[in-house]
Amino acid sequence: MSQATNQSWGGRFSEPTDAFVARFTASVNFDQRLARQDIQGSIAHATMLARVGVLTEEERDAIINGLTDIQGEIERGEFNWSVPLEDVHMNIEARLTDKIGITGKKLHTGRSRNDQVATDIRLFMRDEIDVIEAELTRLRDGMIELAEREADTIMPGFTHLQTAQPVTFGHHLLAWQEMLARDHERLLDCRKRVNVMPLGAAALAGTTYPIDRHVTADLLGFDRPAENSLDAVSDRDFAIEFTSFASILLMHLSRMSEELVLWTSAQFDFIDLPDRFCTGSSIMPQKKNPDVPELVRGKTGRVYGHLMALLTLMKSQPLAYNKDNQEDKEPLFDAVDTVRDCLKAFADMVPAIEPKKESMYEAARRGFSTATDLADYLVRKGVAFRDAHEIVGLSVAYGLKTKKDLSEMTLEELQQFSDIIEQDVFEVLTLEGSVAARNHIGGTAPDQVRAAANRAREALAALKGAS
Ligand code: ARG
Repeated sequence: MSQATNQSWGGRFSEPTDAFVARFTASVNFDQRLARQDIQGSIAHATMLARVGVLTEEERDAIINGLTDIQGEIERGEFNWSVPLEDVHMNIEARLTDKIGITGKKLHTGRSRNDQVATDIRLFMRDEIDVIEAELTRLRDGMIELAEREADTIMPGFTHLQTAQPVTFGHHLLAWQEMLARDHERLLDCRKRVNVMPLGAAALAGTTYPIDRHVTADLLGFDRPAENSLDAVSDRDFAIEFTSFASILLMHLSRMSEELVLWTSAQFDFIDLPDRFCTGSSIMPQKKNPDVPELVRGKTGRVYGHLMALLTLMKSQPLAYNKDNQEDKEPLFDAVDTVRDCLKAFADMVPAIEPKKESMYEAARRGFSTATDLADYLVRKGVAFRDAHEIVGLSVAYGLKTKKDLSEMTLEELQQFSDIIEQDVFEVLTLEGSVAARNHIGGTAPDQVRAAANRAREALAALKGAS
């Protein structure tokens, strides 16, 4: 490739680009990742140009065949990417002209790299969103199934990370699932705004050729052409929206990761993760480390960083296109890769979680997790809630002294604190009684968890149908 003035725009220049500036301004080392979408967009553009009579059918066919060959060269790793040619767009166009001659130079009629790159990124985002959505769906499916299986498994529920009340493990998993359901909606909502076509905006003002943007939009599967040419080439809010979705999702995965890490520790001992998701220590032979959730927790930071980078990149840019926007790609690519991989790791790992039911049950039994149930029992028998709170507080103090859970005390022991307490109190002091009593929509009772799992499955199916 020539090191001299760039062939595509060198006409008005009297000296070649400084070698460092050429490297500094080039994007081909990273935007070659858009090659497939660039070719897809160019084929649609050429097809439309022929449809409106700007290209002949022979010219269109030569362009499409040339581009299809180039696609093959790229896939086989035979394409020679050139930094002096700056970016993916000019590399492919130059190669097309090498192959088919002067007709290759007609492809860029009625178009600019500004609407071209905006179109490429949107096509890329749409493809990646669909892959990410499939992984998210797989994860939600697995989580709902595990929740249903564990609808009767009792564990302590926490507030302030202190034992609060017993809950079912299925209920806990469905709480995670709700977070993901909202993320899923955010992703599909983002997709709607991604799927709008900039092509035809040309450099910024539109073009003098009689283009038909509806034809191109249909060919590329876009919902519609972008309404305003200035906006179409300039804004990257869709990329910011995607990284916002990604940041919130990773925040959720990071919370789940934190719990998985805690639960695999000897101190909690609530679950086991299969060895294939863990690694050992080179110095401590006894160690089995939950690396996968730890890494997901850690990767959250880089995605937050990409969101900040893109927000800052866009801020203060005057209309319309500015070279700043070339910086949108690397954060976006990394956010896409990170989200996809973290979701894959979770979708593989969650169904393989092995709950240690006895250990969870024991933990719920310690820590007076049914104290609220005793207070509610007293209220049902006519005691004012504040007085009930006091009575239970005294019972707990007694339990701490004698190392007895409330359910392990005799009726006589409990009656020291209130003579209203009768034999039926033991129905509410058991863990099973406690969870079963929370029997309403959104409650932790096993029957409610099973019903909630069914509703979650239906909601997921409806979302899949909608996308
Ligand atoms: N490489 C550029 C980008 O990523 C393509 C558009 C360049 N347009 C221009 N007029 N220099 O944004």
